Amino acid sequence: MNIFVLLAKIFWTMLEAFVQKFVPVKRKSVRGEVVLVTGAAHGVGRCLALEFGRLGATVVLWDINRDGNEATAEQIREEGGTTRAYQCDCSKREEIQRVAQQVKEEVGDVTILFNNAGVMTTGSVLDLTDDQIERTFQVNVLAHFWTIRAFLPSMMTRNQGHIAALASIAGYSGSPYMVDYSSSKHAVVGLMNTLQKELELQGKDGIKTTTVCPFFVDTGFCPNPKIGSTTAGLRVLSPEEVALQAVDAVLKNIRRVIMPSEMRSVPLMTQLLPYKTQSLMQNSADISFDLMQSGPHNKTD
Ligand SMILES: NC(=O)c1ccc[n+]([C@@H]2O[C@H](COP(=O)([O-])OP(=O)(O)OC[C@H]3O[C@@H](n4cnc5c(N)ncnc54)[C@H](O)[C@@H]3O)[C@@H](O)[C@H]2O)c1
Repeated sequence: MNIFVLLAKIFWTMLEAFVQKFVPVKRKSVRGEVVLVTGAAHGVGRCLALEFGRLGATVVLWDINRDGNEATAEQIREEGGTTRAYQCDCSKREEIQRVAQQVKEEVGDVTILFNNAGVMTTGSVLDLTDDQIERTFQVNVLAHFWTIRAFLPSMMTRNQGHIAALASIAGYSGSPYMVDYSSSKHAVVGLMNTLQKELELQGKDGIKTTTVCPFFVDTGFCPNPKIGSTTAGLRVLSPEEVALQAVDAVLKNIRRVIMPSEMRSVPLMTQLLPYKTQSLMQNSADISFDLMQSGPHNKTD
């Protein structure tokens, strides 16, 4: 491409992105869509499922926790929604493939896939067990591949659909004593960014992606998160507000959501600021949590 044409196109795309910030975006309808939410038995996943149910979607619930999943289904039905709950251990490839097939036969093609299930074990990289590290990557990363590979083909055929992922701000700026978790969320951010590019290159611009990157959420997932009183604006989010913003982003085809808004500059800062400046800022925020896996290599202070 001619350099002047390229520069003009770069300028145009930047102008377009700038203007779009001020133009209200219409929300698409999910009525009649089949929305699959993994990790739907509790926390953000349950709130996502309830919200999609209220919007008229058929909500397919996956979780390893059968009782919690059934409780979510019950709540959706009480609110007049349509749902099917499936027990599925997302750390197991064969199980994902088997349950995905069952969903296709019993409910139909999934048109919106929301990979939300996640696990976390806080502890130093040497104190975590091999199994804990493997499980973090099986549930937080590999499960995304297996669900995408199961449900993307029908979206490709129709050039329509949406794939969303619950990543984390740890996908941009990781935390000590969460090395496996942070790196798994970096992988999800990378997966979603490159998947979007691959779909565009294949002409499948009708398939959208959304990556949701919250700070701490009050679900009990991270043990006892605390934020120093000097850190203005930062707070632990509620699962309801995370789910509402995430659903809104899907309905508006927004590619990335970072919440709370005070954290939006984190990706840029990790690229621009010197390493020592980043460490200084991270340490001064005085953010802490309890260690789940303790041992001789844990020393948080
Ligand atoms: N809570 C936070 O502070 C926080 C912050 C940023 C991102 N996130 C992300 O949000 C997502 C949801 O977390 P949450 O806070 O709602 O936690 P949660 O513990 O309330 O919910 C997680 C759900 O995933 C399910 N799950 C775990 N392992 C599974 C497996 N092998 N197969 C199927 N389901 C499984 C659990 O049973 C649970 O219902 C996770 O991906 C997490 O990484 C959480």
